[in-house]
Amino acid sequence: MLRIASFAGSGFDLGALHRAMLAAFSDYIVPLQPDADTFKATLISRGFDPEASFVAVDDDEIIGFWNVATRNTKRYLIGSGTRIGHRGRGLASRLGMAAISAAQNGGSESFSLEVIEGNAAAERLYRKMGFDVTRKLDCYRLDHPSPDRSSCKQSDFGSVANAIHRYSTWEPTWQNATETISRLPLTCFLHEKGGAIIGTGGLVHQIAASEPSAIEDLLAAAATVGSLTLVNVDSADSALSAVLQGLGADRFIVQSEMRLSLSNAS
Ligand SMILES: CC(C)(COP(=O)(O)OP(=O)(O)OC[C@H]1O[C@@H](n2cnc3c(N)ncnc32)[C@H](O)[C@@H]1OP(=O)(O)O)[C@@H](O)C(=O)NCCC(=O)NCCS
Repeated sequence: MLRIASFAGSGFDLGALHRAMLAAFSDYIVPLQPDADTFKATLISRGFDPEASFVAVDDDEIIGFWNVATRNTKRYLIGSGTRIGHRGRGLASRLGMAAISAAQNGGSESFSLEVIEGNAAAERLYRKMGFDVTRKLDCYRLDHPSPDRSSCKQSDFGSVANAIHRYSTWEPTWQNATETISRLPLTCFLHEKGGAIIGTGGLVHQIAASEPSAIEDLLAAAATVGSLTLVNVDSADSALSAVLQGLGADRFIVQSEMRLSLSNAS
């Protein structure tokens, strides 16, 4: 029999949630099939909240889920999905309503998420739940940037975070936020003209600098594995976008950040 339950009260473990995630994302707009360890590590680093997350259960398996993170008064949708054979029956809507209602009851002020441009089913679902687009986000791949990296020096996370705070004009999304990344094995560089970059193994989490040439140098310094991936660059950051496009970066995904203000939600 079908039931909707918080993940914490569902009686299922992360292994079952992982199997449901792989099935629901098997026809996703981009390939996304993490192994069990990567799936769990991602949930943990983003602040997965079992009480705030909801699953649809049929007989002995999870057939739909809203995986939610909580941080202070904010909630974030890490991922939602419904197994292919169970779609179009209102499961995601019921899970979303349960997650939003739990967030309101828990005193949260806002709920945010990202959706890939072109995922019409998901965007319609979120609009139906009351979410509105707050900004556009670009994801880039950049091969072998090679400007002058001698003006950069490796530094500690605190100094680099301060430099980024000084020069950045926008807040990173949840997955690149300081609270999410602070426990990762980060590589951090400062630029002598002002600015910094924070990355892990070819993934850039945060970057900001005083001038375009410093952005180029920082990208080159951080390209420890040859290529770089930048997920969720605010598309309104014209300076960073111009540098990336000038270096020939491939913009492989555009996303919409969506937000629901819970104080105004009915
Ligand atoms: C998006 C997804 C979770 C929807 O799950 P679902 O259980 O089928 O959703 P529901 O039946 O509750 O439908 C909810 C709303 O989504 C929209 N929707 C669902 N399927 C749709 C489709 N094929 N085309 C257009 N809109 C669709 C509709 O607005 C629908 O409401 P309506 O029927 O009242 O118009 C599911 O398609 C899925 O798992 N997709 C792959 C993984 C994914 O993209 N996850 C989201 C990542 S951000």
